Amino acid sequence: MAVSNHLPCYDPAFVRQLFDEMAATYGVMNLVSSFGFARRWRRQCIRAVPIRPGDRVLDLMTGMGEILPDAGRMIGSDGSITAIDISSRMCQEARRRASDRVPCPVQIIEADVLSIDLPPGSADVVLSSFGLKTLSSDQIRTLARRVHDILAPGGRLSFVEISVPRSYWLRVPYMFYLRRVIPVLGALFLGNPDNYRLLGVYTGAFGDCSDACRAFAEAGLEVEPVSYFFGCATGVIGRKS
Ligand SMILES: C[S@@+](CC[C@H](N)C(=O)[O-])C[C@H]1O[C@@H](n2cnc3c(N)ncnc32)[C@H](O)[C@@H]1O
Repeated sequence: MAVSNHLPCYDPAFVRQLFDEMAATYGVMNLVSSFGFARRWRRQCIRAVPIRPGDRVLDLMTGMGEILPDAGRMIGSDGSITAIDISSRMCQEARRRASDRVPCPVQIIEADVLSIDLPPGSADVVLSSFGLKTLSSDQIRTLARRVHDILAPGGRLSFVEISVPRSYWLRVPYMFYLRRVIPVLGALFLGNPDNYRLLGVYTGAFGDCSDACRAFAEAGLEVEPVSYFFGCATGVIGRKS
């Protein structure tokens, strides 16, 4: 896969191939390279909005279904989860995790979230962890409109993404770590260092969730920004009135 040093590529076919290639190493790399923070931020993302027994949850860009067990426990056997990811290898892992560890019905759909065709009002909660950075600003606006349509009235949303901290003293070492150290760790864990380098490029271009927060507000949702660990991750939480 050709990797640009400067500009991330937002073509869904490129992103699909990137994550198909990373699927074998993503789980362990994610845990080790984030020192466990990724797991903590996912939990904070889920707990940032009310999730009730029986809710219908939609997990966008589910990856290996990392948040499915926690979300499943919160909604119980009366709830249901639909999880979407564009990468077939990630979906395979998500199906495995869902069948082992989730107490409610789970449907894993291999699809582009920008063109999903789910019925209006069919989700009580929309969640998403670490999927926004590989979307362009325009794509995030498309996604925000879809989330608005799919959420039932009173439905909640919570998104989280790795971000560039505002503080200079944190930003410089953190971005050095994302751009230079993580690719080396990727190589150590038998991943392709270029793919892991690209994640740092996407994060640098993404910045933080402030633009996504504006996009969800433009789509008609009541939203507010959230910051996790001094802005090393940020999020958007909100509801459809
Ligand atoms: C960094 S991973 C995050 C996975 C997981 N949610 C987590 O918490 O680790 C981003 C995921 O988003 C998926 N993705 C990116 N763009 C997508 C799109 N347009 N439609 C569906 N999935 C997409 C990728 O395939 C990948 O599995």
